[in-house]
Amino acid sequence: MARWIILTLLWHLLSMLSAADEFAEALEHCGERDEVFNTSLLQLGTTLARTPTNPCGYLLIDTCSNLSWGCSNACATHSHGSDCYRPVDDVMAEHPGEDGYCYFNSVAFYVKYGGPTPDFEAEAASGITYLRHGEYKGLNTGPLLTYHFEGEVIASHMDSMHYSYDDIYAYSLGFLQGQGIDSWRMKNATDWISLSEEKCKTIQQRYNFSKAELVLSDWLDFNQVIATMACCSAGISCATDENNRRLSGFQSVSQCRPVTRRDFAKHHYMKCLLGYRNSAADMAYLHSRACLLAGHRIGHFSDCPYVPPVDF
Ligand SMILES: *[C@@H]1O[C@H](CO)[C@@H](O)[C@H](O)[C@H]1NC(C)=O
Ligand SMILES: *[C@@H]1O[C@H](CO)[C@@H](O)[C@H](O)[C@H]1NC(C)=O
Ligand SMILES: *[C@@H]1O[C@H](CO)[C@@H](O)[C@H](O)[C@H]1NC(C)=O
Repeated sequence: MARWIILTLLWHLLSMLSAADEFAEALEHCGERDEVFNTSLLQLGTTLARTPTNPCGYLLIDTCSNLSWGCSNACATHSHGSDCYRPVDDVMAEHPGEDGYCYFNSVAFYVKYGGPTPDFEAEAASGITYLRHGEYKGLNTGPLLTYHFEGEVIASHMDSMHYSYDDIYAYSLGFLQGQGIDSWRMKNATDWISLSEEKCKTIQQRYNFSKAELVLSDWLDFNQVIATMACCSAGISCATDENNRRLSGFQSVSQCRPVTRRDFAKHHYMKCLLGYRNSAADMAYLHSRACLLAGHRIGHFSDCPYVPPVDF
């Protein structure tokens, strides 16, 4: 069961992985490199404690070093934790020019500052590889799921647990290959970030999320609810515990609340508010790994025109 929770906690690891490398690089460029920084990736939360070379937020108490996968809301023990409970719009307005993933660095295992100079293709590839977590058996080896999503029927192989979230999340946002985005734009980080900004603005024009709906702690807690509702849309059970069942309206695979476009849009839009560099990384990951094929099917890797540099 724990394994299931862990695996449905997703693709978000993407940010974490690339963050380690890029942050190390950023520190090196600053001259000094903290000794503590050079420890294992899974302890990133505490190793990023504030120092002269690390301007980012950090964990006050090491609550996540051996709970990294499960550490999905560390607001209570974060240096900027009190800002987790306020509209993120207000928080970021007080910190112009700061990256929200830096400010809230390590508040969840997938909120990790990725550094100032993104390589979106590389970040996407490391995210893809990492999230397989020893569980991926190969392209199209997982069960073929049928999602009933907002009146549409879409099929996709779930080759790894997190696919049940990411496939339909990407589809919903229009970020799959075949939905109008030019993959080559990922090569130019500035351009990709400006594309992300456009997408973010379109989302907000459509959904008009209120400030009160965009509070970081709520967003963190809702992630697993989205995962369970996405499974509901595919007719499978991912309910983790009683609390999750209640929040996601899960009684059984035939009596549960399916995920909506709005749920996914809000999940992505929080990343927009935390900095277009972060929503851009999300978009790169979602775009790299999958595509929309004829016949309402989602494909991955060699099924698709753009193939990221990973084995599959
Ligand atoms: C964390 O790791 C320590 C040392 O390996 C272990 O004693 C402790 O039980 C672990 N805590 C949890 C919550 O897994
Ligand atoms: C990258 O994109 C930006 C913004 O679209 C553009 O101004 C710049 O010339 C591009 N850089 C390269 C190397 O193509
Ligand atoms: C958007 O929502 C705000 C309240 O959060 C409301 O005042 C405003 O009229 C809404 N705008 C549109 C275009 O729906």
